[in-house]
Amino acid sequence: VTSGGHAHQPPRTLRWESGPPGQLVLIDQTRLPERFVELPVRTVDELVDALQRLAVRGAPAIGVAAGYGVLLGLSGHEDCEPSEAVARVREAAATLVKARPTAVNLAWAAQRMVRRADRLLGEGARGRAFFEALLEEAHGIASEDDAQCRKMGEVGVALLRDGVSVLTHCNAGALATGGMGTALSPIYVAAERGLRVRVFATETRPLLQGARLTSWELERSGIEVTLIPDSAAATVLQRGMVDLVLVGADRIARNGDVCNKIGTYPIALAAQRHGIPFYVVAPLSTFDPDTAEGAQIPIEERSSDEVTGFHGQRTAPDGVRAFNPAFDVTPAAMVRGIVTEEGLIAGGDEARIAALLGRQ
Ligand code: MRU
Repeated sequence: VTSGGHAHQPPRTLRWESGPPGQLVLIDQTRLPERFVELPVRTVDELVDALQRLAVRGAPAIGVAAGYGVLLGLSGHEDCEPSEAVARVREAAATLVKARPTAVNLAWAAQRMVRRADRLLGEGARGRAFFEALLEEAHGIASEDDAQCRKMGEVGVALLRDGVSVLTHCNAGALATGGMGTALSPIYVAAERGLRVRVFATETRPLLQGARLTSWELERSGIEVTLIPDSAAATVLQRGMVDLVLVGADRIARNGDVCNKIGTYPIALAAQRHGIPFYVVAPLSTFDPDTAEGAQIPIEERSSDEVTGFHGQRTAPDGVRAFNPAFDVTPAAMVRGIVTEEGLIAGGDEARIAALLGRQ
C-alpha cells in the first residue's frame, strides 16, 4: 500500500485540481486501509454520492469538500451570466447540504460560498473572475481549516505530557479534516515535539472508522496505537489504562452539548464514572449558533444493512431489522473542556461559547 505522503506527515484528504474543468480529488476512505486510491469528483451529484458513502467524511473535511463542491455546480458554465452563476451556486449548495444532516460544517461551508457568490454579484464580477474569486473562497475554507487544526493541536498539546495514554473514538484525524485533524491534532503536535503518546483507538462499529482510518493514519505517522473493540472502552477506562479521552465533534450546541459519532456518549459515561477527563476538540465552525441544545440536533440514521452485515457479507439472519443511528449527544456537563482554535472552553461554558460565536 502506498500512502501518497511522506512518513510522519498526516495524509492530505482532499485537493482541488484546476481545470478546465476543475475537479476535486479525494482519498477514497471506503478503500482504506487495503488500498490508497484517489477519487476524482467532477459533479455535484458525484460529491453527494461520495459524502453519503463516506468516501469523504469527518465534519471539517465535509465542510472543505462542500466549499469546492459548490464550484462543481459551475463546471462547464464558468462563463455564464452572473445571475445564472449565483442560481447554480445556490442549487449546488442546497443539494450538498442535504447529503448528510448532522455535521454542521457542511451547511456552514455551503452557506459561506453562497454569501460570497451574492457579494460577487453585487460587485459586478462576471465570467472567469467570478469563478476564480469563488475558488479563492473555497481555498480559504481549506487553508483556514488546515491552520485551525494546527492551532487546536497547539492548544490541546498542553493536556498531554510525555508518556501519556489517550483514548479516542471514530476518526477525528487528518482524514477527517483539511489539516492534521481535530482530536488527533494535539497528538501529532506532541509527537513533533518528541513526546511519547500512546493512543487507544476504538474500532467504531459499524463502519470501522477507528480500525480502518485512525489506526492507519497513526501507524503511518509512527504513533503507537492499540485498537480495541468499542465494547472494551469502559474496561480501558475502568482499569486506568488511559489518562484522558480526546474526541472530535460533528455539531456543538450553544449550551455545549456535543454531538459526535455513535458510541461517544457511552465513553463519556464511563469516563465520568471512572474520573477520567473527557475532552472534545473542534473548530468554531462545528458550533451551531442556531441550535440551543443537543436534543435539537438532527441525528443521521443510516441503512440497516451496515449493521446486519459488513462489506456486502450478511452477518445477521435474514429479515432481522436494525437501528443504526450514526451519532449521539454527550451532555455538556460530562465534557471537561472543548479545545478550539481560539483556546480551551470549559465544558458547558455557554457565555464563552456565545462570546466566541459572536466574534465570527
Ligand atoms: O460518519 P463520519 O465518519 O463522518 O463521522 C465522523 C465523526 O463522528 C468524527 O468524530 C467527527 O466528524 C469529528 S472529526 C474531525
